[in-house]
Amino acid sequence: MRGECSSTNIVGLDHVAAYVPNQYLPMEDLARARGVEPSKYLVGIGIKEMAVPSQEEDVVVLGANAGRDVLEEAGISPKDVGLLIVGTESAEDKSKPTATHIHDLLGISSNCRVYDVIHACIGATYGVLTAIDWVRGSGKYALVIASDIAKYGIGAPGEATQGAGAVAMLISRNPRLMALEEIGAFSKNVYDFWKPLDRDFPIVKGVYSAECYTEAVLKCFSGRKIDRNAAFLYHTPYPGIVKQAHAKVVKMFDEHVDPQQHYKNRVASSILYASRVGNIYTGSLWLSLVSFLENHLASATESEVSDRGTEEGLVGCYMFSYGSGCGAVLMRGELSRTWAIMAQKLKVGERLGKRVKLSIEEYERLMYSREAVRWNQPTYSHFKFEGVRDNERVYARID
Ligand code: HMG
Repeated sequence: MRGECSSTNIVGLDHVAAYVPNQYLPMEDLARARGVEPSKYLVGIGIKEMAVPSQEEDVVVLGANAGRDVLEEAGISPKDVGLLIVGTESAEDKSKPTATHIHDLLGISSNCRVYDVIHACIGATYGVLTAIDWVRGSGKYALVIASDIAKYGIGAPGEATQGAGAVAMLISRNPRLMALEEIGAFSKNVYDFWKPLDRDFPIVKGVYSAECYTEAVLKCFSGRKIDRNAAFLYHTPYPGIVKQAHAKVVKMFDEHVDPQQHYKNRVASSILYASRVGNIYTGSLWLSLVSFLENHLASATESEVSDRGTEEGLVGCYMFSYGSGCGAVLMRGELSRTWAIMAQKLKVGERLGKRVKLSIEEYERLMYSREAVRWNQPTYSHFKFEGVRDNERVYARID
């Protein structure tokens, strides 16, 4: 698969785009409000800012924005999409798919398969893998959107890992961004994190969930020849767990490699956005990809990005996806020759820098009562949730 992406058998990501809410809570403020030493959140868990959705942003709005961005940046018409899959575990309905609203808001044609996939944080990844097979057969474009709002409850241990956002993946033949294939999978019936239907928040066995995650990482990497020059991208419930898991992976392929140095060179650029957004569940791994593409690009020199290769010969990446319950997949991605042209279209870093800071009171009102705070309108959202009328959720486009 290491090639020029010129054969029609090569399928992968033509483009990817992420949408994050326009407001955030500094984790230092959350720590002080909860009586916790700030370094526990900032260093131990590794999160600096939490993205907080406005009362007009639910998973439909977050996802529709990411979908709109990916199509616009790729220059692909919604009419050319033949398959739309949404991965989410924060849906507002137990039957009607989130994807049906997004399909409508994006103006995708009715001649399209439209559905949701649910499996904790790995739902969208399973959607991407299904879409890859579908695109290989049909030759059409598929759109997969991961959209979630992670909530654990005020004062819960998981509160520090909350986040909100969506990532959209456009799948095509001859992808301009990267070819992608599954190289390993792991599944096991565990209760590490789950959401009974009658509960508002997940039940989490924090330490056990970290053990399940780490076991899945090691099972997916074990027994294979590992290319240490690749980038390593992980599902990131919080950066601290990725650092620990990656050190174990490094030990597996070479005891003499310094895990901290390897993390710095091969993982760190992909974690930057998770540390400014929090866990976005289904979109987490894909936000790591966006972070890697945007920040790796920023550090690469002009000659390095003008060709397919990048600094230190890095051309590919491992991508580890995990969903509680549990399921895991390890994928291998190979950057296409045009990856830098596509990566230059990403604007997540710029948007993160322009967000509005919330106070603790505003965060609690927004996240837990869904009440408006003074800035009602997300500045770059193209859609909004208007409320429930006659038991139906109503959305509008903002132009
Ligand atoms: P906790 O139990 O409050 O934290 O919450 P802790 O006491 O374990 O401390 C966290 C780290 O901070 C530790 O580092 C401490 O030493 C360190 P470690 O030992 O792990 O290296 N620490 C400090 N560092 C610097 N200065 C200090 C300080 N104090 C402590 N002063 C927990 C942690 C993960 C349990 C909690 O955040 C939680 O419940 N999170 C939700 C569950 C989760 O994220 N699990 C991850 C794996 S499961 C998964 O990924 C699936 C998921 O995405 C859902 C899905 O699939 O749908 C969650």
